[in-house]
Amino acid sequence: MTAMQRRRIDHDADWLDVANQWNVRDDTIYLNHGSFGPPPNPVAEAKRDWLQRMECQPMDFFCRHFEQAVVDARGALARFVGTNRKDLVLCDNATAAMNIVARSFPLSCGDQVLLTNHEYGAVHRIWQRACEQTGAQLRVANLPVRCHTSADVLHPLLAAVSASTRLIVVSHITSPTAIIFPIVDICREAADRDIPVCVDGPHAVATLDLALDRLGCAFYTASCHKWLSASLGSGFLYVHPAWQDRIQPMQQSWGRLQPEIPHTWDEEFTWPGTRDATSLFTIPDAIVFLENIGCEAFRQRTHWLAQYARRALEQLFNTMAIVPDSTTWYQTMTLIPLPVGNHAGLQQQLWKRFHIEVPIIQFEDNWYIRVSCHLYNSTSHIDLLVKALAVLCRSGGG
Ligand SMILES: Cc1ncc(COP(=O)(O)O)c(C=O)c1O
Repeated sequence: MTAMQRRRIDHDADWLDVANQWNVRDDTIYLNHGSFGPPPNPVAEAKRDWLQRMECQPMDFFCRHFEQAVVDARGALARFVGTNRKDLVLCDNATAAMNIVARSFPLSCGDQVLLTNHEYGAVHRIWQRACEQTGAQLRVANLPVRCHTSADVLHPLLAAVSASTRLIVVSHITSPTAIIFPIVDICREAADRDIPVCVDGPHAVATLDLALDRLGCAFYTASCHKWLSASLGSGFLYVHPAWQDRIQPMQQSWGRLQPEIPHTWDEEFTWPGTRDATSLFTIPDAIVFLENIGCEAFRQRTHWLAQYARRALEQLFNTMAIVPDSTTWYQTMTLIPLPVGNHAGLQQQLWKRFHIEVPIIQFEDNWYIRVSCHLYNSTSHIDLLVKALAVLCRSGGG
């Protein structure tokens, strides 16, 4: 496929050259990029190069090249997610970024932190601990599983706001339910009430065309090793300028490589101590890889695959997905209800009998399947999943 030819989103053959740039194991049908995403070969090669540079001459690497590599990665990432390099710091993953916010955010006895029931489990735990340590209270807004309008999200969320709410923590794209939340509306409503918002955004990087400066959030936490497909162990924390003087690294170190001295909030994050930070330096390579294919083309193809999966599974189970069939509500991941019953063993069965990796999720009292589609996936993967489910669910294997 030459650069001049446009790949048709519904033609697997047009994407074969792209799919071949991933080294997914031959024995595996991988439909779980949303949990752990493998990087494409050019990113994996960039990682190996950085590692070699670090390990064959550490003094030269750390003292003469490290800080510039951090600056370059931050610059490329900031442009990609629509903010300024000075407003974003690199960290290992979204979890690390969320912990930084939780440790730094000023909470006292009686304050409330508001989350939703669609948040990632570890995020609940992070804020539970922050609340326990400060005497604050964690409050969970109960949103419906099925969302059809932004009011379905906004009403229950805002109804749970009280005079004590100090922070709202909310996903951009939810983990257990794969819903794109109306984040601009949430931030606007929160701003009207003078409440800062911390957005948990690992699934949104690359999936959505981000403009962090225009989002209106105080904090944005994300991983670059999900949909952007940088190497595992790469993420970032965005902090709005109004909050930067309150944010500190989890781990106190030199801040910058000696003899340099940190002067600004972000410089404190450059040097958290000696470690392998090479995954972070693959972020620019991952961006170049994606932009060479075309971000819009990536989004259209992966959404088309997710939609293909959604329709096939809706038909198989005679059910309806939980959100409208629109890119407003889902992009690269789709969540489909499974037939009534206990499906605790289904994920293992899919792997053991069919070598398919796909998460089976229990949310509230029901079971769902969450299918992730990246550029190495094709309709044949989804067809095989549907066949396997037909066998397992008929034989009660779930
Ligand atoms: C919504 C959400 N937030 C946070 C995380 C944590 O990401 P990581 O393990 O990369 O820190 C995940 C991981 O799947 C997630 O889905």
